Amino acid sequence: MPHSVRHEPTPLEIVKDNNMEGKLLGKWAVITGSSSATGIEIVRALAATGLRLILPVPNQAKAIVTLGDAYNPNRMEFVTIDHASLDSVREAAKHIISKTERICLLVCNEAVTPSPDLQLTQDGFEMQFATNHLSHFLLFQLLKPELLAASRPRFQSRVIMVACQEHRRHGLNERGNYNFEKGEYDIAIAYAQSKTANIYMANEIERRYGTRGLHALSTNSGRIISGEFQQDGGQSLHPNPQLETGGKSCAQGTSTTIWGAIGREWEGKGGKNLSHCTDALSGDSEEDMPSTTCAEHTNNPAEEARLWEDSLDMIGLLDDQ
Ligand SMILES: NC(=O)c1ccc[n+]([C@@H]2O[C@H](COP(=O)([O-])OP(=O)(O)OC[C@H]3O[C@@H](n4cnc5c(N)ncnc54)[C@H](OP(=O)(O)O)[C@@H]3O)[C@@H](O)[C@H]2O)c1
Repeated sequence: MPHSVRHEPTPLEIVKDNNMEGKLLGKWAVITGSSSATGIEIVRALAATGLRLILPVPNQAKAIVTLGDAYNPNRMEFVTIDHASLDSVREAAKHIISKTERICLLVCNEAVTPSPDLQLTQDGFEMQFATNHLSHFLLFQLLKPELLAASRPRFQSRVIMVACQEHRRHGLNERGNYNFEKGEYDIAIAYAQSKTANIYMANEIERRYGTRGLHALSTNSGRIISGEFQQDGGQSLHPNPQLETGGKSCAQGTSTTIWGAIGREWEGKGGKNLSHCTDALSGDSEEDMPSTTCAEHTNNPAEEARLWEDSLDMIGLLDDQ
């Protein structure tokens, strides 16, 4: 059911409204970027479904502190990862696979805080493209057998790509220019490219694996207000003028992701971009970031296929279809 921007439910309300409290007991999920801000609220809400959570994080000691009361050592396990290194992602995937043969949900929430200047990873890729997109693409490829194995008629496997309204600013750079080889670096365009890539990856997963019970959605979180409005434990709207103009607390910024991850109406479906707990309609309005639309360039099968092919090449894998 679509919700208005003002009256979006909290992540915990979504779990409850979907009658998913404790319903995923015995199943496993992997959540990236879980050790701060929105990631903490994703952990809190998904834990309420009974899922056992594997949390790839850069620093496990820090994660325990930042997760605070959302951390449950009996139901959560950490794996060390550096999304800026493809080797580290490969290592993390090995550790994840050693813990379980079935993963019903992968939430790709990690995003790097970039520097204003062009920064390349040790693998030679632009930092935002590499961490926000390529690392998740590789992680998906390595966990794909476990995702396919976990799919069941009552809860088919899901991948949630956390994108952002900023995807509107730009699509993919042309082939041979993903790393700004051909022109000046622009941090906002690099972020937009990486977030468009998140959306394209979800669409292409759906196209390739949907009929095998593995589905993917992308979500736009909306602008999130930090500071005292972070980590409000999944509570409802704070009476704050910033929130009234479209800014959200971390919990509110997580609602759409949780809706896609466990919402009953997404059972067996995918290939959609969700925004503010609605199926985002295509429409260009860059100045209107809190809107429930997605940019027109987000549905482009040819570009999605190009990204998939090029990403396989960049991570050194052959297509397995
Ligand atoms: N914040 C917003 O206003 C907003 C709006 C729309 C969409 N989004 C999207 O929502 C998602 C989460 O955003 P957020 O604001 O909650 O993010 P954030 O506070 O910046 O957190 C990013 C997470 O990624 C982890 N991380 C960063 N670099 C890493 C690396 N190299 N290796 C491993 N982990 C790394 C961080 O770990 P540590 O903290 O432990 O280093 C942290 O847990 C992102 O995909 C973002 O694009 C955010």
